[in-house]
Amino acid sequence: MSTDQVRIAVFDTTLRDGEQSPGCSMNHQEKLRLAHQLDRLGVDVIEAGFPIASEGDFEAVKAIAAVIRRPIIAGLARACRPDIERAWEALQDAARPRIHVFLATSDIHLQYKLRITRDQCLAQAREAVAFAKSVCADVEFSPEDATRTDPDFLCRVLDAVVAAGATTLNIPDTVGFTIPSEFGDLIATIRRQVKGVEKVTLSAHCHNDLGMAVANTMAAIAAGARQVECTINGIGERAGNAALEEIVMAMRVRRDRYPYETGIAGEHLFRASQMLSEITGVPVQPNKAVTGRNAFAHEAGIHQDGVLKNPLTYEIMTPQSVGVPDSRLVLGKHSGRHALAIRCEQLGYQFDRRALDDIYRRFVRLADKIKHVEDHHLLELIRETHKPAASATPLFEPISAAATANAASPREEPRPFPPAQTTNAFALPLPAPADPHHDQEDYLWGV
Ligand code: KIV
Ligand code: ZN
Repeated sequence: MSTDQVRIAVFDTTLRDGEQSPGCSMNHQEKLRLAHQLDRLGVDVIEAGFPIASEGDFEAVKAIAAVIRRPIIAGLARACRPDIERAWEALQDAARPRIHVFLATSDIHLQYKLRITRDQCLAQAREAVAFAKSVCADVEFSPEDATRTDPDFLCRVLDAVVAAGATTLNIPDTVGFTIPSEFGDLIATIRRQVKGVEKVTLSAHCHNDLGMAVANTMAAIAAGARQVECTINGIGERAGNAALEEIVMAMRVRRDRYPYETGIAGEHLFRASQMLSEITGVPVQPNKAVTGRNAFAHEAGIHQDGVLKNPLTYEIMTPQSVGVPDSRLVLGKHSGRHALAIRCEQLGYQFDRRALDDIYRRFVRLADKIKHVEDHHLLELIRETHKPAASATPLFEPISAAATANAASPREEPRPFPPAQTTNAFALPLPAPADPHHDQEDYLWGV
């Protein structure tokens, strides 16, 4: 098979691992609303919850399983009968149910948390998966804290659960401890050593404690993982999980290095991110990759100038490809004349070079004081600098007229701006007529 067609399954755990993070709990209706958005987004698996954890979790998994028909719906269970039975009960109405069984395998967890031996762990994993398999054909197994587990023991546990019927082996970096090269090696070791591994799907589940969840996930894909577990906005326990939108766009933008497909409809990413933030009340970090409000915003003059000439200069993906309405040119003290001129045009004013210079100087002084220059500031500045009646060449009815009830009519008759002026708005003599607007003007000066 050509690598061009390799498909990576996207397992979304926003409603389970994500919901476990502080401040991110959701009620029943909110979970259903988000589940519909995940369906529209095209995820392959929705982990809808941990049914034994609470009545609310059980009901949410049950409701999602009943109405969301396309993706697989997974329910989490510890490696014991009551959990597996409860998960299966919640998944009864699912078109495509999956039971996700987990058991810690690292010595730290066995000794201090579970207080069992390695042999007991091995037996418990095997029995739990066999029981889950007796009720549900699709069984995923996760050796919790896999990245701090002795690799030989890990492979023995994985051998046992594959033999017991697991169809997906998910390798969690539960505490966000691993690094990309090491995690890639671990996936490669599992592919080499585990018996029957070629019949099952290998999956990666990375936490972000060292800020490497997405990088580790990408390393796992490169090493042969074919399912990624992730959450919208990267929410999840502690520092969160790998962010779905970042993994998907890394594959899309760097197809040269990651020639894989997903079923994700990129244009729904921003909506999913916004919806989650609106539901939980947890804002998206402004500089968050892909879906943060600054991800496609440009303030520096050189950048604005470049993006206006060709977005490829400073944008590696289009805002539209992830569902962001448009890139935003933010007017601040770093902005250049090119962006200022465009915004003035959008507001209905077109200035010649000299007038723009004049406005630009005032604009920079203002931006130094107030950080972000909004449209109403700009309109005021234009009004102050050039009395409207004799001012700019309006392109259309300026917004100021509509927005400000008592604003003076911008003009009666179109007149080119400015009339031959010898002093600027500060009553200082103007320099000799400027050169024609040079293509590199913002590049050279607008910083
Ligand atoms: O991080 C983890 O180990 C988990 C497992 C339940 C898969 O979330
Ligand atoms: Zn997790």
